[in-house]
Amino acid sequence: MIWYPYQQMKTMQPPIKIRRAEGVFLYTEDDAKLIDGVSSWWSTIHGYHHPVLDSAIHTQLDSFAHVMLGGLTHEPAERLSEKLQSWLPGDLDYCFFSDSGSVAVEVSLKMALQYYMNRGDTRRTMVLSLEHAYHGDTFKAMEVGDDEDYHFVLSAYGKSPHVVHIPTEIAALEQAFALYGNQLNCMIVEPLLQGAGGMRMYDVSFLERARQLCDARGVLLIFDEVATGFGRTGNRFVADLVLPDILVLGKALTGGYIGHAVTVANEKVFEGFYSDDPGHALMHGPTFMGNALACSVALKSIELFENEHYLEKVRNIERITRRELANFSDPRIKEIRIMGGCSCIEVLDAKTLEGFKEFAYQRGVFLRPFLNYLYTMVPYIIEEAELVQVLQVMKDWFRRSGADSSSNV
Ligand SMILES: Cc1ncc(COP(=O)(O)O)c(C=O)c1O
Repeated sequence: MIWYPYQQMKTMQPPIKIRRAEGVFLYTEDDAKLIDGVSSWWSTIHGYHHPVLDSAIHTQLDSFAHVMLGGLTHEPAERLSEKLQSWLPGDLDYCFFSDSGSVAVEVSLKMALQYYMNRGDTRRTMVLSLEHAYHGDTFKAMEVGDDEDYHFVLSAYGKSPHVVHIPTEIAALEQAFALYGNQLNCMIVEPLLQGAGGMRMYDVSFLERARQLCDARGVLLIFDEVATGFGRTGNRFVADLVLPDILVLGKALTGGYIGHAVTVANEKVFEGFYSDDPGHALMHGPTFMGNALACSVALKSIELFENEHYLEKVRNIERITRRELANFSDPRIKEIRIMGGCSCIEVLDAKTLEGFKEFAYQRGVFLRPFLNYLYTMVPYIIEEAELVQVLQVMKDWFRRSGADSSSNV
């Protein structure tokens, strides 16, 4: 049987079974048609079953699905790394592929640590990270994260002496650098928008100051843009605003078609490994890194993003969201946050959202609140009326005169 994610298998409600998906719609086994308000964990920016993306995969499949990058190479991986090299800002030029965002985060942290080890500097073993951070579910990613998933690890091992978590406040940032500056190998952040930690949004001035302090103290700056990349914050990448040393991309990299991710290093980081000493090589190599189907679909996804003015689409989503949620309030709401293609209603008590998923289902919308957060991360191709419907369902939930749902979804 399937062991489902983030669920108590004994008490979980049966998941909704999907038969077909097209555009923004999920079609269920029970003939319900649902707008996907969360883009399959924030990845399907072009919607489902996109003809251009489907055809990229079919075409590549006629040659081969996968060959490893150990001792072999191929055109889809070469072309994708060339595209990213020219498309990404600054000298973010060196692409290390992997099969998921968590692994790409692990690679970035390994790169930062080994960068200093290769220089013979063994003091810099610490990582500066943010409170409420989420960087994936593998062990080092959990350690730099500050998330529910990590708490069982904390009970087993205690707090890691190698990670310092700070709030997104400049005073805390400056204090951390003053205290730990010469022990840090890197600082890792989800820039501007912290996703799984509660769709928390913060100002670019924090990142600008982080860049200055990293430069002053020789600390590598890592942007985990697995969630924020490809337009989600309204910027193409936050890295366009403040340049990190290492950039991590995943999720929308393949338009949400195939699990794939990339850790992109700048010249300085790459140079730290480039030597005659085999011991200075980056010892990492996921079996499916550079998968040819994933690279082919990623190339087409980027082409669509560029040619079909996706940033304008995201701006439009933000404009409509702001308009629809303007002046909306309820005593149970703590805060409403909107940035680019993401909106979040944070409630005071998580119980307020109990039954919401069923309520939305009955109104043709799939949304999946967690803890105190009712959020949207819609596909960018969503039509205005569809987005209004999603936001209306969220507002109606607070306006209804009591829980009215007993459906078993
Ligand atoms: C910011 C961030 N980093 C890393 C990850 C992990 O990516 P994956 O689920 O592909 O391992 C996620 C997933 O939600 C994420 O939001």
